[in-house]
Amino acid sequence: MTGPVRFEIAEGIAIATIANPPVNALSAALRGALAEAVTRATADPAIRGLVIVAEGRTWIAGADISEFGKPPVAPTLADLIALLDGCPKPVVAAIHAAALGGGLEVAMACTARLIGPAAKLGLPEVKLGLLPGSGGTQRAPRLMGAAPALKLMVQGDPLDAKAAVAAGLADALVEGNLRAAACAHAAKLAGEPLPRPVSQRDEGLGSRDAFEAEAAALAKRAATEPQVAAMIACVRAAFEKPFAEALAEERQAFLDLLQDPRSKALRHVFFAEREAAKIANLPEGTKPRKVERAAVLGAGTMGAGIAMCFANAGIPVRVIETDEAAMKRGLDRIRATYEASVKRGSLTPERRAARMALVEGAVGLDAAGDADIVIEAVFEEMGLKKQVFSTLDKVAKPGAVLASNTSYLDIDEMAAATSRPGDVLGMHFFSPANVMRLLEVVRAKHTAPDALATAAEIGRKLGKVPVVVGVCFGFVGNRMLARRTQQVERLLLEGALPDQVDKALTDFGFRMGPCAMGDLAGLDIGWRIRKATGKRAPVADALVEAGRLGQKTGKGYYLYPEGARAGVPDPDVAALIANVAAQEGVARRAIGQEEILDRLLLPMVNEGARILEEGIAARPGDIDVVWLHGYNWPAWRGGPMHWADARGLKEVFARLTELARQSGDDSLAPAPLLARLVAEDRGFASLR
Ligand code: 3HC
Ligand code: NAI
Repeated sequence: MTGPVRFEIAEGIAIATIANPPVNALSAALRGALAEAVTRATADPAIRGLVIVAEGRTWIAGADISEFGKPPVAPTLADLIALLDGCPKPVVAAIHAAALGGGLEVAMACTARLIGPAAKLGLPEVKLGLLPGSGGTQRAPRLMGAAPALKLMVQGDPLDAKAAVAAGLADALVEGNLRAAACAHAAKLAGEPLPRPVSQRDEGLGSRDAFEAEAAALAKRAATEPQVAAMIACVRAAFEKPFAEALAEERQAFLDLLQDPRSKALRHVFFAEREAAKIANLPEGTKPRKVERAAVLGAGTMGAGIAMCFANAGIPVRVIETDEAAMKRGLDRIRATYEASVKRGSLTPERRAARMALVEGAVGLDAAGDADIVIEAVFEEMGLKKQVFSTLDKVAKPGAVLASNTSYLDIDEMAAATSRPGDVLGMHFFSPANVMRLLEVVRAKHTAPDALATAAEIGRKLGKVPVVVGVCFGFVGNRMLARRTQQVERLLLEGALPDQVDKALTDFGFRMGPCAMGDLAGLDIGWRIRKATGKRAPVADALVEAGRLGQKTGKGYYLYPEGARAGVPDPDVAALIANVAAQEGVARRAIGQEEILDRLLLPMVNEGARILEEGIAARPGDIDVVWLHGYNWPAWRGGPMHWADARGLKEVFARLTELARQSGDDSLAPAPLLARLVAEDRGFASLR
């Protein structure tokens, strides 16, 4: 047999070896080949049992997600699993690595499951807005009990080998030769009466009360996540209905969820994240440079956080400041952050010590001389940055990657201050740098391919999601954010209040609205930038000038009474805004939530279209990933570009045209790319 499954027979036991790279997803070809193996093993009187093993980094990663939404091809996963369930000979799953989703469903339909120490067993469908759709909601409860099975499905994180055996999901952990052990087990089972298939082991469901208690504890999630509600209903059906009936219900629930826009968005995110990892236009064979030591310039808010990222990843890092006192402050900041993690219980004292031992403080740029990568996080001033890069040019070792963490400034200009622009690029972390996962890797005009590959690889090692972007003011994220910030100011002037603006976004799914966010970060930051660049934002400026800098002064857009965790609306702010509007000659009116949301989000999408057209982002999905990991865009909304596609670009175009007309602001008029896509009846997704 050729194709994704090799079939061989040894001492009366058939062995089906799966080889369907990269992750043994259950594509139509693999399902067909596995079904054929089961049929052949069943039909051949010389075969007494079947073992399913796999090659590669996973056992079976689940259904092939790229086939979802396409017409089903027989045999379906349900067909394959029914074959296994009804197989009159023992079938042993020999699981050496991850068995996820449909992969675990295949394993659970086998007679027995033997696993290796690296096995991981899980049902991650919840993360794709789905539920296990091929018997998982029925077999997992029968193997491990309904309450623990519900928990496994709702959390979506796999169990490691030991936990899987303890939970009853696997029969035994094999430390030695897994394949040989599985063959021996199949031979043993073949000599005994065949155990009942898992589908008939109703006694395994365990306590109904325990299940109902688990379900009740999930009420809040079930109200907002349809897949969680469906999981509860399906497991309940396992108690109340015959297996076949409950299975049919599960199938229907799965098909319904597949159509849900939330699942479509989550599946888009899955692929967008993986695609963003592939750097466009990188010459074949480009190898990242070796990075063994890092240096971070500036031990302020960002520098300290970036240094922690390196220490967390086990890479020695030197934080360099202008004087001893600033250096000590930086190290103290790092120490305090680790200390807080130890107090919270998320870091052991031993780990903290190991991490701290990797961080070293120094004064003066000479100390960057032995680093393979240098990231500057000094003040946001071009003059200073150029000076820093010109000095680095002299002191950094040949081949070191020289990166700037600038939020807005021109990397080409910094590169031009050196004699080695090929080594220079941007690595834009997000605050808090040790927490936020986004890393915009900024490719400048002369950045060498291997320097770019190094930054992306090191980003991944630091646990970040690197997205390659081009040079422009604010790159992808902050450039789009500026459009939203502009609208916040206008909405406030024209009639909205901070809590109305914020509610539009929290109802949409953001954890925080822009006004609450501004209060958290400090309103003086933006104010200082505006003063330096001659820009104004009348409402935000007036707040700062009235001493309302945000949470740190107890008041900003909101009031923060002593001890309160969240801000409360402040009548003084309403009065201040009314005043400013009158001074600016803007008549205030009531603005509905729908208009607020459109005005906050559509200009961002429009800017995203410009960013794509200019090639600043390579793919619409890259922009989505930036927003998901840099700004907490709700994953089930898929990111701004996916959201626009889901809404329909025709409508997006019409609303922007209307907003531009109403406001007289030409920047709101649909970008040429948007106009072209609408004319061609295409979506952003067609640009991939
Ligand atoms: N279907 C299709 N493609 C898949 C896939 C799947 N289930 N899982 C991974 N891939 C692809 C990725 O898109 C990627 O493709 P690319 O190289 O072209 O970008 C490639 O396989 C490698 O994936 P990763 O980069 O993620 O590889 P890792 O080694 O880092 O991770 C993994 C491996 C842990 C298996 C991870 O890929 C993963 O979590 N996969 C999804 C698992 C999952 O959600 N399974 C459930 C699917 S739904 C289901 O089974 C429904 C059923 O109940 C009916
Ligand atoms: P910060 O003011 O907290 O820290 C800057 C540090 O740089 C100070 O400790 C200062 O002493 C030090 N420094 C100044 N000149 C130096 C020199 N020549 N050599 C060594 N150290 C020097 O500033 P922050 O917020 O950490 O920002 C740093 C950079 O990161 C800026 O470019 C900023 O735009 C960018 N950034 C900031 C984010 C934020 O949310 N704060 C987010 C993403 C990027």
